[in-house]
Amino acid sequence: MYNPENPYNKLPLLPPGLEVETKRVLKEAINATRVLAELKGRANEIPNQSMLVNAITLQEAKDSSEIENIVTTQDNLYKAFSGQINTSDAQTKEVLRYRQALWEGYNSLSTRPLSTNTFVTIAKTIKENDVGIRNTSGTTIQSNGRIIYTPPVGESTIRDLLKNLEDFMHMENGPDDLIRLAIMHYQFEAIHPFPDGNGRTGRILNILFLVEKGLLDTPILYLSKYIIEHKNEYYKKLRAVTEKQQWEDWILFILKGVKETAYYTLQKINGINSLMQETILYCKDKLVPRVYSRELIELLFEQPYCKVRFLVERGIAKRQTAAEYLYELEKIGVLKSQKVGVENLFLNVRLFEILKY
Ligand SMILES: Nc1ncnc2c1ncn2[C@@H]1O[C@H](COP(=O)(O)OP(=O)(O)OP(=O)(O)O)[C@@H](O)[C@H]1O
Ligand SMILES: [Mg+2]
Repeated sequence: MYNPENPYNKLPLLPPGLEVETKRVLKEAINATRVLAELKGRANEIPNQSMLVNAITLQEAKDSSEIENIVTTQDNLYKAFSGQINTSDAQTKEVLRYRQALWEGYNSLSTRPLSTNTFVTIAKTIKENDVGIRNTSGTTIQSNGRIIYTPPVGESTIRDLLKNLEDFMHMENGPDDLIRLAIMHYQFEAIHPFPDGNGRTGRILNILFLVEKGLLDTPILYLSKYIIEHKNEYYKKLRAVTEKQQWEDWILFILKGVKETAYYTLQKINGINSLMQETILYCKDKLVPRVYSRELIELLFEQPYCKVRFLVERGIAKRQTAAEYLYELEKIGVLKSQKVGVENLFLNVRLFEILKY
């Protein structure tokens, strides 16, 4: 009998012992794959990739960290991101660490495939401590003060399960990649290898897995948004796999998430892109030719806050002139200045509206 209060050392190895590629699952996998492919293609057409990836990973970091009730405002986050990190609060820093972990993981894919080492590195960065694989018991998942799940205990048991997970991620002739993503995510959470940060590490792995499989080129997908918005259902379905082997329902849930968030991200990209084109035309018309350059406007879309230093670093203008440019942009309503500490930040008002959702 399954008992949620006992460590689940009998967590079954992957692949699941029953047919997961049912007709309904395959149909939904096709839908999700199609939207994801559209997102990948669209993202590649955007001239200024760094803007897009910056904006989206920041948003993903914020949303994902909110599951853990780290609430920081979008505004604080963007201010911190534009160079105020030392003065920012602990919660904002935690979100920025999530984003950093995502990037580190992403960069590591070019040298080595996803592995237990990657998982550990991600968890370390998120928690900013030296935590490794759990080697003590006592980690449980609770709901309303009741234990609903106790993950496996014993470092070697956990490592064996992780090795099996790695093999499953890379096995030949395994399930379709998106179906595999769903299975992999359940298994990672069920193994729960770390004392804390398993949810966030698992959500980063989702995105990295998509990149590793070539379904995305950059880490742009707001999958965490979906998970947060359906948190209760997400928790319930995780339990149903453990307690009743309800894989189909779980996989359909994740596939729907991929489809919806790919679509959402696509809309967002289109929104940012049209706004940038519009702003270029508007500024060309309103600014004197000495001030206007396409490069300047594109810079305003790399992140919602701009500052004098960014222009100087790009070689767009020297300090004094750069400040003048930004105030000209404020005069025509594109930017709005805000004093933060000793420096002025300039908010791209409409971009912020799009990102805020
Ligand atoms: N019944 C369950 N079985 C397996 N995993 C579960 C279950 N319920 C929740 N989880 C997972 O545990 C995660 C929480 O674990 P942990 O606190 O270590 O992660 P976190 O990153 O600190 O938190 P969070 O995911 O809330 O941001 C959830 O996000 C979910 O993925
Ligand atoms: Mg936690």
